Amino acid sequence: MSVPVEKNAAPASCDALTVMFDGACPLCRREIGLYQSLEPLRPVQWLDVSEAQTGLAPEEQARLMARFHVRMADGRMFSGAAAFIELWLTMPGWRWLGRIGLLPGVTPLLEWAYVRFLRLRPRLQQWVRATEMRHLPADVVADLRSNHAGESGAVAVYRGMLWATRDPAIQEFAQRHLQTEQEHLEVMNALLPPLRRSWMLPIWRFAGYVTGALPALVGRPAVYATVATIETFVDQHYKCQLDLLADRPEADALRQLLTDCRNDEREHLEEAHNKLLTKPGLIVQGWCKAIQVGSVLGVWLTRRI
Ligand SMILES: [Fe+2]
Ligand SMILES: [Fe+2]
Repeated sequence: MSVPVEKNAAPASCDALTVMFDGACPLCRREIGLYQSLEPLRPVQWLDVSEAQTGLAPEEQARLMARFHVRMADGRMFSGAAAFIELWLTMPGWRWLGRIGLLPGVTPLLEWAYVRFLRLRPRLQQWVRATEMRHLPADVVADLRSNHAGESGAVAVYRGMLWATRDPAIQEFAQRHLQTEQEHLEVMNALLPPLRRSWMLPIWRFAGYVTGALPALVGRPAVYATVATIETFVDQHYKCQLDLLADRPEADALRQLLTDCRNDEREHLEEAHNKLLTKPGLIVQGWCKAIQVGSVLGVWLTRRI
C-alpha cells in the first residue's frame, strides 16, 4: 500500500507545519486539543477546516474534512497515517510513536487502521455527541428539541414548495435549500435521541408543508418573502442559543454545529432577500406576520412537548 502524499499541494503560506483538522468532529477536536496543550518542537499552525471562514471551496473543504492532513513548510501535503506521523514527530512525548511509524511496513499498517477507523467514525461521532448530550442541562436539550422540530418543518416547507410549483426558478431554489435543510436535520437527528424529540413532529411537518406549498401556488415574491421571514426567525433563534452557550466550554462541539447551521440559514436569508425585488402586497405581509407568530408559538411548544 502506498502512503498518501500529495506532492502537488499549494506552497505553504508560512514556515510552520500546518495541521488541518475537522473541528466539527468531537473525536478530532478532542485529540487535537491534547496536542495543542503541548509545546511543539517546531512551529505549528492549527487550521480547523470545518469553519466557514477558511475561504476554501466546498469540494476542497469536504476533501480536507474527510481525512486528517498536515502541510509541511516546503508545501508537501501528507494525509491519514502519514500526516499523524509528521505531527507525532513534532510533539514532545509522541516522537517515539512517529519514529515507529517510519519503520519499514509500519506506515501502511497504520494507514490500513486509519481507513478502518474512518468507516467507524460516523458512528463514533454519534456516540460521543449522544454522551455529551447527556451532560447538557435541560434548557439546552429543550432548545435542541425546538431545533430538531424546526429543521423537520424546514424540510417539509421545501417539499411542499416543490409539490405545489411548476416554476423552474422556485424548483431550483427549493431543491438547493431542501438539500441544506436535510443536512441540518441529520445533524439534529445525530444530536437528539428519538425519545427526546418533540412529540408534535407530525404537526410541525404538516405545518411546514402547508407553509411551503401555499406561497408556491401564489408565485415567486410570496415564496421569497416566506423564506426570508422564516430564516430571519431561525437566525435569531440560533443566535440566542449561541449566546447562551458562549460561557459553556463543555458545549464547544454543540456550539460549532449550531454556528454552521446558523451560517447556512443566513445564506438562505440573504438569497431570499436578494430575490425579493418588490415589496410584498398586504396579503403576503399578513401571511408573513402569521408565520412569525406561528414560529414563536412553535418554539414555545416544542421546548416543552
Ligand atoms: Fe435549517
Ligand atoms: Fe434554512
